[in-house]
Amino acid sequence: MSLKRISGSLFALALLLCLVAAGLAAGSRRNDRPWMDRGLSPDARARLVVQAMTEPEKIQLLSSTSVNPDQPLPLAGLIRGIDRLGIPAIKETNAGLGIAIPFRNGHHNTADEATALPSGLAIAATWSPDLAYAAGSLIGSEARAKGLNVVLGGAANLARDPRNGRNFEYAGEDPLLTGSIVGEAIRGIGDRHVISTMKHFAVNDQETNRSNLNAVIEPAALRESDLLAFEIANQRGHPGAVMCSYNRVNGTPACENDWLLNRILRKEWGFDGWVMSDWGAVHSTARAAQAGLDQQSGVEWDGARYFGEALAASVKDGAVPGRQVDEMAQRVLRSLFAAGVVDDKTPATLADSSRDAQLAQHLAERGIVLLKNSAGLLPLAPDIAHVAVIGGHADIGVMSGGGSSQVIPAGGPALQIPAPAAATWTVFDPSSPLNALAAKRPQAHVDYASGDDLKTAAALARTADVAIVFATKWEAEGHDSGDLSLPADEDALIDSVAAANPKTIVVLETGNPVRMPWKDKVAGILEAWYPGQGGGEAIANILVGNTEPAGRLPITFPAGDAQLPRPEIPGYTSSPGNPIDVDYREGAAVGYKWFDARRIAPLFPFGFGLSYTSFAFHDLSVTRSEVPSVSFTVTNTGLRRGSAVPQLYAWAPGADGQVTQRLVGWRRVDLAPGQTERVDIEVPPLLLAGFDAERDRWQLSETAYPIAIGASAGDTPLTASLPVAPRELPP
Ligand code: GLC
Repeated sequence: MSLKRISGSLFALALLLCLVAAGLAAGSRRNDRPWMDRGLSPDARARLVVQAMTEPEKIQLLSSTSVNPDQPLPLAGLIRGIDRLGIPAIKETNAGLGIAIPFRNGHHNTADEATALPSGLAIAATWSPDLAYAAGSLIGSEARAKGLNVVLGGAANLARDPRNGRNFEYAGEDPLLTGSIVGEAIRGIGDRHVISTMKHFAVNDQETNRSNLNAVIEPAALRESDLLAFEIANQRGHPGAVMCSYNRVNGTPACENDWLLNRILRKEWGFDGWVMSDWGAVHSTARAAQAGLDQQSGVEWDGARYFGEALAASVKDGAVPGRQVDEMAQRVLRSLFAAGVVDDKTPATLADSSRDAQLAQHLAERGIVLLKNSAGLLPLAPDIAHVAVIGGHADIGVMSGGGSSQVIPAGGPALQIPAPAAATWTVFDPSSPLNALAAKRPQAHVDYASGDDLKTAAALARTADVAIVFATKWEAEGHDSGDLSLPADEDALIDSVAAANPKTIVVLETGNPVRMPWKDKVAGILEAWYPGQGGGEAIANILVGNTEPAGRLPITFPAGDAQLPRPEIPGYTSSPGNPIDVDYREGAAVGYKWFDARRIAPLFPFGFGLSYTSFAFHDLSVTRSEVPSVSFTVTNTGLRRGSAVPQLYAWAPGADGQVTQRLVGWRRVDLAPGQTERVDIEVPPLLLAGFDAERDRWQLSETAYPIAIGASAGDTPLTASLPVAPRELPP
């Protein structure tokens, strides 16, 4: 036999031996690590790991550090992995508007950049759960591409106060819209094998004194409002984690609140993931562990490491049963297995930044709300000759909100203005409305004035066919706005420009509703929210009519602070840090429900938004069944294709007997001129029910409920009565 053949045989033999050895090793590893068997359930796999863990390894899973200089990216939270058991490190990042890597003293690396999506209110203004899912999927894929496996995104707090500095991260004032939008975003993140985090559980509905405030609210009213939003989001999204919030709820800290965490979240809603604290929201060891907290987040933010050695000591002295720590570790592990984090460690695919940028712009376009368009000034005529663009740094970018959700946009910020009071920066995303508009109207003369000088701005406006004023109001985590006004100089600028040219359009880049003392002096108003890194293009496409304005308000625009349940934010003027009670006496009557119950006319109602065409809703019929439903027809009665969002409202008594208007369904319908579509909407009984706190049950108390179809909460002309069988709903 030739030497060549012998060496070939030896090689083949060696290869065979290697394969056999590898097979044996894998087999033995499978024996050593039975939890790696993907055929087992996440709970079974988690139990097997806990059985193999040492006590210190279990404790290691139950707190995260926000100091992690050894990581390639600064992480909001890091839980070291357990290599011995094949459990990866848990790498937590913010959040709901894109992967938010914090600035490093105002600077950043390219790797810190991510797609900057429009604000939560903008995504909610699309009234599109599908688009919310797409946003979540983008966030999940970009997290994986950066090697991160937990996104602290899934904020479902209701906008109880339209001056809350974090409303731009949320989805508005209604439980069904919020729960649907945030639930789908959570589902989108989870489908990318990344864990999402429903937060801030619960009633963290203002930033002022957030760590010292006690939310006082009837439990039944809380069930029918804030908790209903979380319940729907949890049902739709199945988050892997929940973050309990800074505040107290009826006297008990949210992160030590057995009623919230064990009774409702786990027992009633079946949440099977883990509860992490907000950063600096833990106040005890045994009390918190027994009440349902599983993990202390960002231990450096608290006064002590409650879930480190102190927890081990509490087990030793019997204050915390050993099986409790096993269950806490188990809940963390089962989420890791359920999300695919253990099995699918490596990034599936690198993020597709151009596809993500297109989605960011599309989300902005679908979320922009046309509030006024007198004399059909918009869309701008194709042959318009001279346009004045004024203010809002429109020559370089669009505003974004501040705090932990701040994304460093692809390509870096267009402008960064230090905001020392908030210990952060005001960031403008690189998408210039001026440049985008000029590109879409190349024949027009498009001039810009910063707006710093009112006379210059007015002079430019006077000479133009149309003047477009960009007005911005910055909002940020940790801070509320003292009132609903735009910064004074912005109102003054709008007044000056409108006085110089009646064909003035105001484009708002705000994180909340704002007062509009100049509303009757201008011809057009667009609410663009914080429109993200595609915002300039999106605004320009709406202005020139390349895209129909499709957004509808997810939050009421009050005419002024006096219309609100609390004309002044509790604690806003008193020194921050003092413990305060916030008496949510409006109960479940949040937003439009408050305005409807008190017959108050807001500036612009919830659900409002104009189109470049017009619609009619007609032929409403109702069907009585276990799940009652309605049918009606939508017709595009205008001359352009457009997007209608017919909303279905019901009037139903809450636990307190107070009848409130409730959004119980909606559809988004895109129609060509003259086209009609028959729409069916089923009404989930839960949305009509009141919560009976004595019986701890949801109750349908009426045999019929008044319902109406409308274009907003304040415009519901198509009415009927919805027959329902009175009954208790199953828990
Ligand atoms: C913050 C926020 C929370 C964020 C966390 C980590 O204080 O309340 O939303 O996810 O800390 O940065």
